[in-house]
Amino acid sequence: MVRVVAISGSRRSGSHTRSTLRHALAAADEAGAATTLIDLGAVDLPLYDPDIDEQGESETLRQTVRDADGIIVGSPVYHGSYSSTFKNFHDYCSFDDYESTAVGLVAVAGGGSFGSTLEHLRSTIRGVHGWVLPHQVGIRGAYNKFAAGTLQDEELLDRTEQLGQSVAEHARRLREEDWIEQPITERRPGDTSRVSLRGPLQLVSLTNCALGISQLT
Ligand SMILES: Cc1cc2nc3c(=O)[nH]c(=O)nc-3n(C[C@H](O)[C@H](O)[C@H](O)COP(=O)(O)O)c2cc1C
Repeated sequence: MVRVVAISGSRRSGSHTRSTLRHALAAADEAGAATTLIDLGAVDLPLYDPDIDEQGESETLRQTVRDADGIIVGSPVYHGSYSSTFKNFHDYCSFDDYESTAVGLVAVAGGGSFGSTLEHLRSTIRGVHGWVLPHQVGIRGAYNKFAAGTLQDEELLDRTEQLGQSVAEHARRLREEDWIEQPITERRPGDTSRVSLRGPLQLVSLTNCALGISQLT
């Protein structure tokens, strides 16, 4: 079973980000993943200090990320970027934690714009080698979109569910190491049921090679 972990970068007690992530995790759960929420507003995580390896719960939290096959990162939009709460945790993390991990993004804005927050998350998660998915969720005008702490907008609910499913699905694909290690000649033609990200690339190069040979002969 794949493991999907959501990380909420808000410290607000009634956080819309956290609520949206719970919805995404429910969809990941339905897609067959084991799910966990890291609420960065409820953990002991002092300001990152490069002179100190571990502080508070940093190592336990990193281990949870390291053990995950898929991560969903959610942040409120703060001054056109993401929150210092998420950045602080992110500074503790490294390649070891995100390597071969599918990552989905959520940004929640009180106002009208979430694009730069998603871009900043995308580029800084790439910085620790996370595989950020193209599907993402941005919520604008959050004050009018939630009631009793729950997202009300049908379109956004659908989009959030798709994100949870997509992270679970891509996490599964990235984990299929046996497919990656299996020699390509041993696979049955047309077998696309266990496609990994490396599989299609190998197939493309093999097809190109075969085409090249057929043109020479
Ligand atoms: C420090 C701070 C900066 C903010 N900056 C922006 C902003 O640039 N654009 C915006 O649309 N909303 C901004 N907001 C509003 C938050 O994005 C909004 O309240 C969001 O729903 C908070 O998410 P949460 O409920 O998960 O905490 C800001 C809020 C705070 C506290």
